[in-house]
Amino acid sequence: MRREGNVRDTRTFERRKVSVKYIAVNLGRYLRPYAVLFVLIFFASLAGTALSLLGPQVCGLAIDEIHPDGTTDLTQIGVYAAVLVAVYIASGVLTYLSSIGLSYLSRCIIKRIRTDIFAHLMSLPVSYFDTRQAGDIISVLSYDLDTLGESLANDVMMVLTSAVTIVGSLVMMLVTAPILVVVFVVTIPLSALFTWWLTKKVQPLFRNRSRKLGELNGFIEEIITGQKTTKAYNCEEAVISRFEKKNVDAIDAYTVAESYGTISGPAVNFMNNLSLALISVFGAIMYMTGVIPTVGKIASFVLYSRKFSGPINEIANVLSEFQSALAAAERAFRVMEELPEPPDDKDAEELKDVQGDVEISHLRFGYTPDKVIIKDFSLKAERGDVVAIVGHTGAGKTTIINLLMRFYDADSGTIKIDGKDITKVTRASLRRSFTMVLQDTWLFSGTIYENVAYGSENVTREDVERVCRAAKIHSFISKLPQGYDTVLTDNAVNISKGQKQLLTIARAMLLSSPMLILDEATSNVDTRTEQYIQQAMENLMQGRTCFVIAHRLSTIKHAKTIIVMDHGDVVEQGTHEELMARGGYYSRLYYSQFDTAE
Ligand SMILES: Nc1ncnc2c1ncn2[C@@H]1O[C@H](COP(=O)(O)OP(=O)(O)OP(=O)(O)O)[C@@H](O)[C@H]1O
Ligand SMILES: [Mg+2]
Repeated sequence: MRREGNVRDTRTFERRKVSVKYIAVNLGRYLRPYAVLFVLIFFASLAGTALSLLGPQVCGLAIDEIHPDGTTDLTQIGVYAAVLVAVYIASGVLTYLSSIGLSYLSRCIIKRIRTDIFAHLMSLPVSYFDTRQAGDIISVLSYDLDTLGESLANDVMMVLTSAVTIVGSLVMMLVTAPILVVVFVVTIPLSALFTWWLTKKVQPLFRNRSRKLGELNGFIEEIITGQKTTKAYNCEEAVISRFEKKNVDAIDAYTVAESYGTISGPAVNFMNNLSLALISVFGAIMYMTGVIPTVGKIASFVLYSRKFSGPINEIANVLSEFQSALAAAERAFRVMEELPEPPDDKDAEELKDVQGDVEISHLRFGYTPDKVIIKDFSLKAERGDVVAIVGHTGAGKTTIINLLMRFYDADSGTIKIDGKDITKVTRASLRRSFTMVLQDTWLFSGTIYENVAYGSENVTREDVERVCRAAKIHSFISKLPQGYDTVLTDNAVNISKGQKQLLTIARAMLLSSPMLILDEATSNVDTRTEQYIQQAMENLMQGRTCFVIAHRLSTIKHAKTIIVMDHGDVVEQGTHEELMARGGYYSRLYYSQFDTAE
Protein backbone atom coordinates (compact mmCIF):
# COMPACT_ATOMS: atom_id res chain seq x y z
CA MET A 1 0.00 0.00 0.00
CA ARG A 2 1.37 3.35 -0.91
CA ARG A 3 0.37 6.54 0.83
CA GLU A 4 -0.82 9.72 -0.84
CA GLY A 5 2.21 11.69 0.17
CA ASN A 6 4.77 9.35 -1.27
CA VAL A 7 7.39 11.26 -3.23
CA ARG A 8 7.99 8.32 -5.52
CA ASP A 9 4.39 8.04 -6.57
CA THR A 10 3.52 7.26 -10.16
CA ARG A 11 3.17 10.92 -11.22
CA THR A 12 6.90 10.97 -11.79
CA PHE A 13 6.58 8.44 -14.55
CA GLU A 14 3.84 10.24 -16.45
CA ARG A 15 6.05 13.23 -17.09
CA ARG A 16 4.99 15.05 -20.22
CA LYS A 17 7.29 14.84 -23.18
CA VAL A 18 9.01 18.14 -23.73
CA SER A 19 8.18 19.30 -27.26
CA VAL A 20 8.93 22.41 -29.27
CA LYS A 21 5.39 23.52 -28.64
CA TYR A 22 5.85 23.02 -24.93
CA ILE A 23 9.03 25.13 -24.96
CA ALA A 24 7.28 27.85 -26.97
CA VAL A 25 4.36 27.92 -24.53
CA ASN A 26 6.74 28.18 -21.58
CA LEU A 27 8.85 30.88 -23.16
CA GLY A 28 5.66 32.69 -24.08
CA ARG A 29 4.69 32.71 -20.44
CA TYR A 30 7.95 34.48 -19.59
CA LEU A 31 7.62 36.82 -22.55
CA ARG A 32 4.14 38.03 -21.63
CA PRO A 33 5.19 40.60 -18.99
CA TYR A 34 7.43 42.17 -21.62
CA ALA A 35 4.87 42.11 -24.42
CA VAL A 36 4.88 45.92 -24.86
CA LEU A 37 8.67 46.08 -25.01
CA PHE A 38 8.73 43.16 -27.41
CA VAL A 39 6.24 44.82 -29.73
CA LEU A 40 8.31 48.03 -29.67
CA ILE A 41 11.44 46.08 -30.49
CA PHE A 42 9.61 44.25 -33.23
CA PHE A 43 8.50 47.49 -34.88
CA ALA A 44 11.86 49.19 -34.42
CA SER A 45 13.56 46.28 -36.11
CA LEU A 46 10.89 46.21 -38.81
CA ALA A 47 11.32 49.93 -39.45
CA GLY A 48 15.12 49.67 -39.41
CA THR A 49 15.13 46.91 -41.97
CA ALA A 50 12.46 48.57 -44.10
CA LEU A 51 14.45 51.81 -44.14
CA SER A 52 17.58 50.02 -45.23
CA LEU A 53 15.52 48.58 -48.09
CA LEU A 54 14.94 52.12 -49.36
CA GLY A 55 18.67 52.58 -49.92
CA PRO A 56 19.05 50.71 -53.22
CA GLN A 57 15.98 52.48 -54.60
CA VAL A 58 17.48 55.89 -53.87
CA CYS A 59 20.80 54.73 -55.32
CA GLY A 60 19.07 53.73 -58.53
CA LEU A 61 17.34 57.09 -58.75
CA ALA A 62 20.65 58.89 -58.22
CA ILE A 63 22.32 56.87 -60.95
CA ASP A 64 19.51 57.69 -63.36
CA GLU A 65 20.05 61.41 -62.63
CA ILE A 66 23.46 61.16 -64.24
CA HIS A 67 23.05 62.08 -67.87
CA PRO A 68 26.09 61.54 -70.11
CA ASP A 69 24.89 64.46 -72.33
CA GLY A 70 25.90 67.01 -69.66
CA THR A 71 22.46 67.89 -68.29
CA THR A 72 23.23 66.21 -64.93
CA ASP A 73 21.51 68.05 -62.07
CA LEU A 74 24.14 68.00 -59.31
CA THR A 75 21.80 69.46 -56.67
CA GLN A 76 19.34 66.68 -57.27
CA ILE A 77 22.12 64.09 -56.81
CA GLY A 78 23.18 65.92 -53.64
CA VAL A 79 19.64 65.61 -52.34
CA TYR A 80 19.61 61.88 -53.07
CA ALA A 81 22.97 61.47 -51.34
CA ALA A 82 21.69 63.33 -48.27
CA VAL A 83 18.53 61.21 -48.21
CA LEU A 84 20.68 58.08 -48.51
CA VAL A 85 22.85 59.12 -45.54
CA ALA A 86 19.78 59.98 -43.47
CA VAL A 87 18.08 56.70 -44.34
CA TYR A 88 21.11 54.61 -43.43
CA ILE A 89 21.73 56.50 -40.19
CA ALA A 90 18.09 56.13 -39.15
CA SER A 91 18.15 52.45 -40.07
CA GLY A 92 21.39 51.94 -38.12
CA VAL A 93 20.03 53.63 -35.02
CA LEU A 94 16.78 51.64 -35.13
CA THR A 95 18.63 48.36 -35.63
CA TYR A 96 20.97 49.20 -32.76
CA LEU A 97 18.08 50.11 -30.45
CA SER A 98 16.16 46.97 -31.27
CA SER A 99 19.17 44.77 -30.76
CA ILE A 100 20.06 46.20 -27.35
CA GLY A 101 16.36 46.05 -26.50
CA LEU A 102 16.26 42.38 -27.38
CA SER A 103 19.42 41.66 -25.46
CA TYR A 104 17.92 43.39 -22.39
CA LEU A 105 14.72 41.44 -22.87
CA SER A 106 16.54 38.14 -23.09
CA ARG A 107 18.52 38.90 -19.94
CA CYS A 108 15.31 39.74 -18.06
CA ILE A 109 13.69 36.52 -19.22
CA ILE A 110 16.71 34.40 -18.36
CA LYS A 111 16.93 36.04 -14.94
CA ARG A 112 13.33 35.11 -14.25
CA ILE A 113 13.70 31.57 -15.52
CA ARG A 114 16.85 31.13 -13.45
CA THR A 115 15.12 32.39 -10.29
CA ASP A 116 12.15 30.14 -10.97
CA ILE A 117 14.30 27.08 -11.53
CA PHE A 118 16.27 27.76 -8.38
CA ALA A 119 13.10 28.24 -6.35
CA HIS A 120 11.69 25.08 -7.90
CA LEU A 121 14.84 23.19 -6.99
CA MET A 122 14.29 24.22 -3.38
CA SER A 123 10.84 22.66 -3.49
CA LEU A 124 12.04 19.34 -4.89
CA PRO A 125 12.27 16.30 -2.66
CA VAL A 126 15.56 14.98 -1.34
CA SER A 127 15.24 12.01 -3.71
CA TYR A 128 15.80 14.33 -6.69
CA PHE A 129 19.20 15.40 -5.41
CA ASP A 130 20.10 11.93 -4.20
CA THR A 131 19.85 10.57 -7.72
CA ARG A 132 21.58 13.31 -9.71
CA GLN A 133 25.02 14.77 -10.16
CA ALA A 134 25.26 18.23 -8.67
CA GLY A 135 27.39 19.29 -11.63
CA ASP A 136 24.60 18.40 -14.03
CA ILE A 137 22.05 20.51 -12.16
CA ILE A 138 24.50 23.40 -11.95
CA SER A 139 25.15 23.28 -15.69
CA VAL A 140 21.43 23.70 -16.38
CA LEU A 141 21.38 26.90 -14.34
CA SER A 142 24.53 28.28 -15.92
CA TYR A 143 25.46 26.83 -19.31
CA ASP A 144 22.03 25.87 -20.64
CA LEU A 145 20.35 29.10 -19.61
CA ASP A 146 23.23 31.09 -21.12
CA THR A 147 22.85 29.24 -24.41
CA LEU A 148 19.13 29.93 -24.40
CA GLY A 149 19.72 33.60 -23.57
CA GLU A 150 22.24 34.04 -26.37
CA SER A 151 19.87 32.50 -28.83
CA LEU A 152 16.98 34.68 -27.68
CA ALA A 153 19.10 37.79 -28.02
CA ASN A 154 20.71 37.01 -31.36
CA ASP A 155 18.83 34.39 -33.32
CA VAL A 156 15.40 35.87 -32.76
CA MET A 157 16.68 39.19 -34.07
CA MET A 158 18.32 37.42 -36.96
CA VAL A 159 15.14 35.58 -37.95
CA LEU A 160 13.10 38.74 -37.58
CA THR A 161 15.32 40.89 -39.78
CA SER A 162 15.94 38.09 -42.26
CA ALA A 163 12.25 37.57 -42.78
CA VAL A 164 11.66 41.28 -43.29
CA THR A 165 14.69 41.58 -45.56
CA ILE A 166 13.73 38.61 -47.71
CA VAL A 167 10.12 39.67 -48.16
CA GLY A 168 10.99 43.36 -48.47
CA SER A 169 13.71 42.94 -51.07
CA LEU A 170 11.59 40.52 -53.05
CA VAL A 171 8.81 43.08 -53.16
CA MET A 172 11.26 45.82 -54.11
CA MET A 173 12.77 43.66 -56.84
CA LEU A 174 9.32 42.98 -58.21
CA VAL A 175 8.62 46.71 -58.18
CA THR A 176 11.95 47.60 -59.77
CA ALA A 177 12.31 45.03 -62.51
CA PRO A 178 9.89 42.09 -62.33
CA ILE A 179 11.46 40.36 -65.29
CA LEU A 180 14.86 39.98 -63.57
CA VAL A 181 13.27 38.05 -60.68
CA VAL A 182 13.24 35.10 -63.06
CA VAL A 183 16.95 34.72 -62.30
CA PHE A 184 16.03 33.47 -58.85
CA VAL A 185 14.14 30.58 -60.34
CA VAL A 186 17.63 29.19 -60.90
CA THR A 187 19.41 30.26 -57.76
CA ILE A 188 16.76 29.79 -55.05
CA PRO A 189 16.20 26.06 -55.58
CA LEU A 190 19.99 25.70 -55.57
CA SER A 191 20.21 27.56 -52.26
CA ALA A 192 17.32 25.62 -50.78
CA LEU A 193 18.85 22.30 -51.77
CA PHE A 194 22.18 23.34 -50.35
CA THR A 195 20.67 24.55 -47.06
CA TRP A 196 18.71 21.33 -46.70
CA TRP A 197 21.81 19.24 -47.35
CA LEU A 198 23.94 21.29 -44.96
CA THR A 199 21.44 21.14 -42.10
CA LYS A 200 21.12 17.37 -42.46
CA LYS A 201 24.87 16.98 -42.59
CA VAL A 202 25.83 19.43 -39.87
CA GLN A 203 23.28 18.74 -37.14
CA PRO A 204 24.60 15.36 -36.03
CA LEU A 205 28.13 16.71 -36.30
CA PHE A 206 27.33 19.57 -33.92
CA ARG A 207 25.54 17.22 -31.56
CA ASN A 208 28.59 14.98 -31.59
CA ARG A 209 30.79 17.98 -30.93
CA SER A 210 28.80 18.93 -27.80
CA ARG A 211 28.82 15.34 -26.60
CA LYS A 212 32.58 15.03 -26.95
CA LEU A 213 33.07 18.35 -25.23
CA GLY A 214 30.77 17.17 -22.43
CA GLU A 215 32.79 13.98 -22.04
CA LEU A 216 36.00 15.98 -21.87
CA ASN A 217 34.56 18.31 -19.22
CA GLY A 218 33.23 15.40 -17.22
CA PHE A 219 36.62 13.75 -17.28
CA ILE A 220 38.39 16.94 -16.18
CA GLU A 221 35.93 17.41 -13.30
CA GLU A 222 36.38 13.81 -12.20
CA ILE A 223 40.17 14.05 -12.17
CA ILE A 224 40.38 17.46 -10.53
CA THR A 225 38.11 16.41 -7.67
CA GLY A 226 40.06 13.18 -7.28
CA GLN A 227 43.50 14.77 -7.49
CA LYS A 228 44.80 13.24 -4.30
CA THR A 229 43.85 9.73 -5.31
CA THR A 230 45.49 10.17 -8.70
CA LYS A 231 48.69 11.29 -7.05
CA ALA A 232 48.57 8.65 -4.34
CA TYR A 233 48.18 5.88 -6.88
CA ASN A 234 50.77 7.40 -9.22
CA CYS A 235 48.29 7.48 -12.06
CA GLU A 236 49.32 10.83 -13.53
CA GLU A 237 50.76 9.28 -16.71
CA ALA A 238 47.73 7.15 -17.35
CA VAL A 239 45.43 10.09 -16.67
CA ILE A 240 47.34 12.29 -19.10
CA SER A 241 47.10 9.74 -21.89
CA ARG A 242 43.39 9.20 -21.24
CA PHE A 243 42.97 12.96 -21.27
CA GLU A 244 44.87 13.26 -24.51
CA LYS A 245 42.60 10.72 -26.17
CA LYS A 246 39.49 12.62 -25.09
CA ASN A 247 41.04 15.94 -26.01
CA VAL A 248 41.90 14.71 -29.51
CA ASP A 249 38.38 13.29 -29.91
CA ALA A 250 36.86 16.61 -28.92
CA ILE A 251 39.10 18.59 -31.26
CA ASP A 252 38.44 16.19 -34.14
CA ALA A 253 34.71 16.42 -33.64
CA TYR A 254 35.05 20.18 -33.51
CA THR A 255 37.11 20.33 -36.69
CA VAL A 256 34.76 18.12 -38.67
CA ALA A 257 31.69 20.05 -37.54
CA GLU A 258 33.31 23.39 -38.25
CA SER A 259 34.63 22.37 -41.66
CA TYR A 260 31.09 21.59 -42.76
CA GLY A 261 29.62 24.49 -40.81
CA THR A 262 31.90 27.04 -42.51
CA ILE A 263 31.03 25.80 -46.00
CA SER A 264 28.04 28.11 -45.73
CA GLY A 265 30.27 31.23 -46.00
CA PRO A 266 31.88 30.41 -49.33
CA ALA A 267 28.58 28.96 -50.50
CA VAL A 268 26.80 32.23 -49.77
CA ASN A 269 29.43 34.00 -51.80
CA PHE A 270 29.12 31.56 -54.65
CA MET A 271 25.33 31.95 -54.79
CA ASN A 272 25.66 35.71 -54.59
CA ASN A 273 28.19 35.82 -57.38
CA LEU A 274 26.18 33.46 -59.50
CA SER A 275 23.04 35.52 -59.20
CA LEU A 276 25.05 38.71 -59.72
CA ALA A 277 26.52 37.35 -62.94
CA LEU A 278 23.15 36.13 -64.15
CA ILE A 279 21.46 39.41 -63.26
CA SER A 280 24.18 41.46 -65.00
CA VAL A 281 24.05 39.49 -68.23
CA PHE A 282 20.31 39.09 -68.24
CA GLY A 283 19.84 42.72 -67.15
CA ALA A 284 22.08 44.03 -69.93
CA ILE A 285 20.08 42.10 -72.52
CA MET A 286 16.83 43.41 -71.09
CA TYR A 287 18.18 46.99 -71.13
CA MET A 288 19.27 46.71 -74.74
CA THR A 289 15.96 45.28 -75.80
CA GLY A 290 14.26 48.12 -73.92
CA VAL A 291 12.37 45.93 -71.47
CA ILE A 292 14.14 47.67 -68.60
CA PRO A 293 14.17 51.42 -69.19
CA THR A 294 17.16 52.57 -67.11
CA VAL A 295 20.58 51.43 -65.85
CA GLY A 296 19.65 52.74 -62.38
CA LYS A 297 16.94 50.09 -62.14
CA ILE A 298 19.48 47.38 -62.83
CA ALA A 299 21.81 48.85 -60.18
CA SER A 300 18.99 48.89 -57.58
CA PHE A 301 18.06 45.35 -58.51
CA VAL A 302 21.63 44.14 -58.03
CA LEU A 303 21.73 45.73 -54.59
CA TYR A 304 18.39 44.16 -53.60
CA SER A 305 19.46 40.78 -54.88
CA ARG A 306 22.51 40.94 -52.58
CA LYS A 307 20.27 41.71 -49.62
CA PHE A 308 17.91 38.96 -50.66
CA SER A 309 20.32 36.06 -50.99
CA GLY A 310 22.32 36.73 -47.83
CA PRO A 311 19.71 35.75 -45.22
CA ILE A 312 18.39 32.82 -47.25
CA ASN A 313 21.74 31.12 -47.03
CA GLU A 314 22.29 32.07 -43.42
CA ILE A 315 19.13 30.31 -42.33
CA ALA A 316 21.19 27.12 -42.23
CA ASN A 317 23.41 28.65 -39.56
CA VAL A 318 20.56 29.97 -37.47
CA LEU A 319 18.81 26.61 -37.68
CA SER A 320 21.73 24.80 -36.09
CA GLU A 321 22.01 27.44 -33.37
CA PHE A 322 18.30 27.10 -32.72
CA GLN A 323 18.82 23.39 -32.35
CA SER A 324 21.26 23.84 -29.49
CA ALA A 325 19.06 26.49 -27.86
CA LEU A 326 16.09 24.12 -28.03
CA ALA A 327 18.10 21.37 -26.37
CA ALA A 328 19.16 23.80 -23.63
CA ALA A 329 15.60 25.07 -23.08
CA GLU A 330 14.39 21.50 -22.92
CA ARG A 331 16.87 20.67 -20.16
CA ALA A 332 15.89 23.81 -18.25
CA PHE A 333 12.14 23.30 -18.47
CA ARG A 334 12.53 19.64 -17.65
CA VAL A 335 13.81 20.66 -14.21
CA MET A 336 10.64 22.71 -13.79
CA GLU A 337 8.61 19.66 -14.76
CA GLU A 338 10.05 17.71 -11.83
CA LEU A 339 7.43 17.15 -9.20
CA PRO A 340 7.94 19.06 -5.97
CA GLU A 341 7.48 17.48 -2.59
CA PRO A 342 3.77 16.65 -2.47
CA PRO A 343 1.89 19.34 -0.56
CA ASP A 344 1.08 18.78 3.09
CA ASP A 345 -2.25 17.19 3.87
CA LYS A 346 -5.11 19.67 3.58
CA ASP A 347 -5.89 19.33 7.26
CA ALA A 348 -2.27 18.93 8.33
CA GLU A 349 -1.65 20.34 11.80
CA GLU A 350 1.30 22.33 13.01
CA LEU A 351 3.39 20.22 15.34
CA LYS A 352 3.49 22.47 18.42
CA ASP A 353 4.81 22.15 21.98
CA VAL A 354 6.35 18.84 21.10
CA GLN A 355 6.90 16.48 23.99
CA GLY A 356 9.18 14.24 21.97
CA ASP A 357 7.47 10.88 22.29
CA VAL A 358 8.26 8.89 19.18
CA GLU A 359 6.56 5.70 18.15
CA ILE A 360 7.56 3.86 15.02
CA SER A 361 5.59 0.80 14.08
CA HIS A 362 6.09 -1.77 11.33
CA LEU A 363 7.94 0.53 9.02
CA ARG A 364 8.63 -0.78 5.55
CA PHE A 365 10.54 1.14 2.92
CA GLY A 366 12.71 0.89 -0.17
CA TYR A 367 14.27 3.69 -2.23
CA THR A 368 13.16 1.83 -5.33
CA PRO A 369 10.11 -0.41 -5.42
CA ASP A 370 12.20 -3.47 -6.24
CA LYS A 371 14.63 -3.21 -3.33
CA VAL A 372 13.30 -3.18 0.21
CA ILE A 373 15.78 -1.55 2.60
CA ILE A 374 13.75 -1.39 5.81
CA LYS A 375 11.65 -4.50 6.28
CA ASP A 376 9.83 -4.24 9.58
CA PHE A 377 11.08 -1.62 11.97
CA SER A 378 9.38 -0.70 15.24
CA LEU A 379 10.54 1.48 18.09
CA LYS A 380 9.25 3.48 21.03
CA ALA A 381 11.02 6.38 22.68
CA GLU A 382 10.03 9.00 25.20
CA ARG A 383 11.29 12.46 25.92
CA GLY A 384 14.79 12.30 27.38
CA ASP A 385 15.51 8.83 25.97
CA VAL A 386 18.67 8.22 24.07
CA VAL A 387 18.08 5.68 21.33
CA ALA A 388 21.20 4.38 19.70
CA ILE A 389 21.05 2.69 16.32
CA VAL A 390 23.97 0.47 15.43
CA GLY A 391 24.65 -1.91 12.61
CA HIS A 392 27.07 -2.57 9.81
CA THR A 393 27.56 -0.17 6.92
CA GLY A 394 24.56 -0.12 4.64
CA ALA A 395 22.24 -1.64 7.25
CA GLY A 396 19.76 1.20 6.84
CA LYS A 397 20.52 3.47 9.80
CA THR A 398 20.56 6.73 7.86
CA THR A 399 17.48 5.54 6.02
CA ILE A 400 15.54 5.50 9.31
CA ILE A 401 16.56 9.13 9.83
CA ASN A 402 15.43 9.99 6.29
CA LEU A 403 12.03 8.57 7.16
CA LEU A 404 11.83 10.34 10.52
CA MET A 405 12.47 13.70 8.83
CA ARG A 406 10.13 12.82 5.94
CA PHE A 407 12.90 13.24 3.39
CA TYR A 408 11.29 10.08 2.09
CA ASP A 409 7.92 8.58 2.96
CA ALA A 410 7.54 5.01 4.11
CA ASP A 411 5.78 2.44 1.94
CA SER A 412 3.84 1.19 4.94
CA GLY A 413 3.85 1.47 8.69
CA THR A 414 3.61 4.64 10.74
CA ILE A 415 5.76 7.10 12.61
CA LYS A 416 3.99 9.01 15.36
CA ILE A 417 5.26 11.96 17.33
CA ASP A 418 3.28 12.69 20.50
CA GLY A 419 0.73 10.31 19.09
CA LYS A 420 0.34 12.25 15.81
CA ASP A 421 1.10 10.54 12.53
CA ILE A 422 3.90 12.53 10.88
CA THR A 423 2.11 12.42 7.54
CA LYS A 424 -0.71 14.38 9.17
CA VAL A 425 1.42 17.30 10.30
CA THR A 426 3.16 19.95 8.21
CA ARG A 427 6.64 19.07 7.05
CA ALA A 428 8.02 22.42 8.17
CA SER A 429 6.84 21.97 11.75
CA LEU A 430 8.02 18.35 11.80
CA ARG A 431 11.50 19.31 10.65
CA ARG A 432 11.61 22.25 13.03
CA SER A 433 11.15 19.90 15.95
CA PHE A 434 14.35 18.05 15.08
CA THR A 435 17.94 19.19 15.27
CA MET A 436 20.35 17.12 13.26
CA VAL A 437 24.05 16.68 12.93
CA LEU A 438 24.57 14.73 9.76
CA GLN A 439 27.03 12.21 8.51
CA ASP A 440 28.10 14.62 5.74
CA THR A 441 29.01 17.92 7.33
CA TRP A 442 27.82 20.93 5.41
CA LEU A 443 29.36 24.36 5.77
CA PHE A 444 28.75 27.19 3.36
CA SER A 445 31.00 29.99 2.19
CA GLY A 446 30.48 32.53 4.92
CA THR A 447 32.12 33.38 8.18
CA ILE A 448 32.49 30.86 10.99
CA TYR A 449 30.03 32.95 12.98
CA GLU A 450 27.41 32.77 10.21
CA ASN A 451 27.94 29.04 9.84
CA VAL A 452 27.38 28.33 13.50
CA ALA A 453 24.40 30.68 13.73
CA TYR A 454 22.79 29.09 10.63
CA GLY A 455 19.13 28.30 11.22
CA SER A 456 18.90 29.96 14.63
CA GLU A 457 17.20 33.25 15.29
CA ASN A 458 18.24 36.10 17.57
CA VAL A 459 21.58 34.69 18.54
CA THR A 460 24.30 36.87 19.96
CA ARG A 461 28.04 36.69 19.60
CA GLU A 462 28.18 35.39 23.17
CA ASP A 463 25.81 32.51 22.36
CA VAL A 464 27.98 31.47 19.44
CA GLU A 465 31.15 31.61 21.51
CA ARG A 466 29.51 29.66 24.31
CA VAL A 467 28.56 26.73 22.07
CA CYS A 468 31.92 26.76 20.36
CA ARG A 469 33.61 26.53 23.75
CA ALA A 470 31.40 23.60 24.64
CA ALA A 471 32.23 21.92 21.34
CA LYS A 472 35.95 22.45 22.05
CA ILE A 473 36.48 24.43 18.86
CA HIS A 474 36.72 27.91 20.42
CA SER A 475 40.46 27.90 20.99
CA PHE A 476 41.09 26.87 17.39
CA ILE A 477 38.82 29.65 16.11
CA SER A 478 40.34 32.33 18.32
CA LYS A 479 43.79 31.51 17.00
CA LEU A 480 42.69 32.32 13.45
CA PRO A 481 43.69 35.87 12.44
CA GLN A 482 40.07 36.87 11.80
CA GLY A 483 38.63 34.72 14.57
CA TYR A 484 34.89 34.20 14.21
CA ASP A 485 34.86 36.44 11.14
CA THR A 486 37.08 34.08 9.20
CA VAL A 487 35.50 33.23 5.87
CA LEU A 488 35.57 29.47 5.45
CA THR A 489 36.28 29.25 1.74
CA ASP A 490 39.29 31.57 1.81
CA ASN A 491 42.42 29.90 0.55
CA ALA A 492 44.20 30.63 3.79
CA VAL A 493 41.81 28.55 5.88
CA ASN A 494 41.53 24.87 5.42
CA ILE A 495 39.87 23.27 8.33
CA SER A 496 39.98 19.57 8.98
CA LYS A 497 37.04 17.15 8.74
CA GLY A 498 36.92 16.84 12.50
CA GLN A 499 36.92 20.60 12.98
CA LYS A 500 34.07 20.83 10.51
CA GLN A 501 32.12 18.32 12.55
CA LEU A 502 32.75 20.26 15.73
CA LEU A 503 31.36 23.37 14.04
CA THR A 504 28.22 21.53 13.03
CA ILE A 505 27.86 20.24 16.58
CA ALA A 506 28.16 23.81 17.86
CA ARG A 507 25.49 24.79 15.34
CA ALA A 508 23.18 22.09 16.71
CA MET A 509 23.82 23.27 20.27
CA LEU A 510 22.31 26.66 19.47
CA LEU A 511 18.97 25.16 18.56
CA SER A 512 16.51 24.06 21.16
CA SER A 513 14.39 21.53 19.29
CA PRO A 514 12.83 18.82 21.43
CA MET A 515 14.41 16.03 19.36
CA LEU A 516 17.95 15.45 18.29
CA ILE A 517 19.53 13.32 15.59
CA LEU A 518 23.22 12.59 15.61
CA ASP A 519 24.27 10.55 12.58
CA GLU A 520 27.93 9.69 13.06
CA ALA A 521 28.32 13.19 14.48
CA THR A 522 31.76 12.56 15.90
CA SER A 523 33.06 9.98 13.45
CA ASN A 524 35.87 12.26 12.26
CA VAL A 525 36.87 13.51 15.68
CA ASP A 526 39.69 11.80 17.54
CA THR A 527 38.84 9.77 20.62
CA ARG A 528 40.34 12.30 22.99
CA THR A 529 38.45 15.26 21.65
CA GLU A 530 35.39 13.06 21.60
CA GLN A 531 35.83 12.42 25.31
CA TYR A 532 36.34 16.14 25.89
CA ILE A 533 33.09 17.06 24.19
CA GLN A 534 31.24 14.17 25.80
CA GLN A 535 30.04 16.43 28.60
CA ALA A 536 28.82 19.02 26.09
CA MET A 537 27.09 16.31 24.10
CA GLU A 538 25.36 15.07 27.22
CA ASN A 539 24.18 18.60 27.94
CA LEU A 540 22.97 18.82 24.36
CA MET A 541 21.02 15.60 24.76
CA GLN A 542 19.56 16.52 28.14
CA GLY A 543 15.79 16.50 28.14
CA ARG A 544 15.46 15.69 24.45
CA THR A 545 14.60 12.57 22.56
CA CYS A 546 17.82 11.59 20.88
CA PHE A 547 18.62 9.28 18.03
CA VAL A 548 22.29 8.51 17.95
CA ILE A 549 23.98 6.56 15.21
CA ALA A 550 27.55 5.60 15.93
CA HIS A 551 30.01 3.04 14.75
CA ARG A 552 32.19 3.60 17.80
CA LEU A 553 30.17 1.66 20.33
CA SER A 554 31.94 3.14 23.35
CA THR A 555 30.09 6.39 22.73
CA ILE A 556 26.61 4.88 22.99
CA LYS A 557 27.13 2.55 25.91
CA HIS A 558 24.85 4.66 28.11
CA ALA A 559 21.95 4.86 25.73
CA LYS A 560 18.56 3.90 27.13
CA THR A 561 17.91 1.59 24.21
CA ILE A 562 20.32 0.22 21.68
CA ILE A 563 18.81 -0.98 18.45
CA VAL A 564 20.92 -3.35 16.42
CA MET A 565 20.05 -3.36 12.74
CA ASP A 566 21.01 -5.88 10.16
CA HIS A 567 19.74 -5.76 6.58
CA GLY A 568 16.86 -3.47 7.49
CA ASP A 569 15.63 -5.54 10.38
CA VAL A 570 15.97 -4.96 14.05
CA VAL A 571 17.88 -8.01 15.20
CA GLU A 572 18.46 -7.04 18.83
CA GLN A 573 17.19 -4.39 21.16
CA GLY A 574 18.03 -3.50 24.77
CA THR A 575 20.51 -1.76 27.01
CA HIS A 576 24.23 -2.24 26.68
CA GLU A 577 24.28 -4.60 29.65
CA GLU A 578 21.33 -6.64 28.41
CA LEU A 579 22.79 -7.01 24.97
CA MET A 580 26.20 -7.92 26.28
CA ALA A 581 24.66 -10.51 28.56
CA ARG A 582 22.82 -11.95 25.61
CA GLY A 583 26.04 -12.64 23.80
CA GLY A 584 24.58 -12.05 20.34
CA TYR A 585 25.34 -9.77 17.39
CA TYR A 586 25.93 -6.68 19.53
CA SER A 587 28.33 -8.33 21.93
CA ARG A 588 30.35 -9.73 19.04
CA LEU A 589 30.44 -6.28 17.46
CA TYR A 590 31.47 -4.74 20.77
CA TYR A 591 34.22 -7.24 21.41
CA SER A 592 35.60 -6.83 17.95
CA GLN A 593 36.01 -3.09 18.60
CA PHE A 594 37.18 -3.68 22.13
CA ASP A 595 39.95 -5.92 20.84
CA THR A 596 41.19 -3.49 18.25
CA ALA A 597 40.46 -0.11 19.73
CA GLU A 598 40.91 -0.42 23.45
N1 LIG B 1 19.11 7.69 -2.10
C1 LIG B 1 19.22 6.36 -2.18
N2 LIG B 1 18.70 5.70 -3.23
C2 LIG B 1 18.80 4.37 -3.33
N3 LIG B 1 19.40 3.58 -2.43
C3 LIG B 1 19.95 4.16 -1.34
C4 LIG B 1 19.89 5.59 -1.17
N4 LIG B 1 20.51 5.88 0.00
C5 LIG B 1 20.93 4.70 0.51
N5 LIG B 1 20.59 3.67 -0.29
C6 LIG B 1 20.84 2.22 -0.02
O1 LIG B 1 20.14 1.90 1.17
C7 LIG B 1 20.91 1.05 1.98
C8 LIG B 1 20.99 1.60 3.39
O2 LIG B 1 21.68 2.83 3.34
P1 LIG B 1 21.91 3.72 4.62
O3 LIG B 1 22.48 5.01 4.18
O4 LIG B 1 20.65 3.78 5.40
O5 LIG B 1 23.00 2.87 5.41
P2 LIG B 1 23.68 3.18 6.80
O6 LIG B 1 23.24 2.11 7.73
O7 LIG B 1 23.42 4.58 7.20
O8 LIG B 1 25.21 2.96 6.45
P3 LIG B 1 26.50 3.76 6.96
O9 LIG B 1 26.84 3.19 8.28
O10 LIG B 1 27.53 3.43 5.95
O11 LIG B 1 26.16 5.20 7.00
C9 LIG B 1 22.25 0.90 1.30
O12 LIG B 1 22.29 -0.38 0.70
C10 LIG B 1 22.30 1.96 0.25
O13 LIG B 1 22.93 1.48 -0.89
MG1 LIG C 1 24.61 6.31 7.30
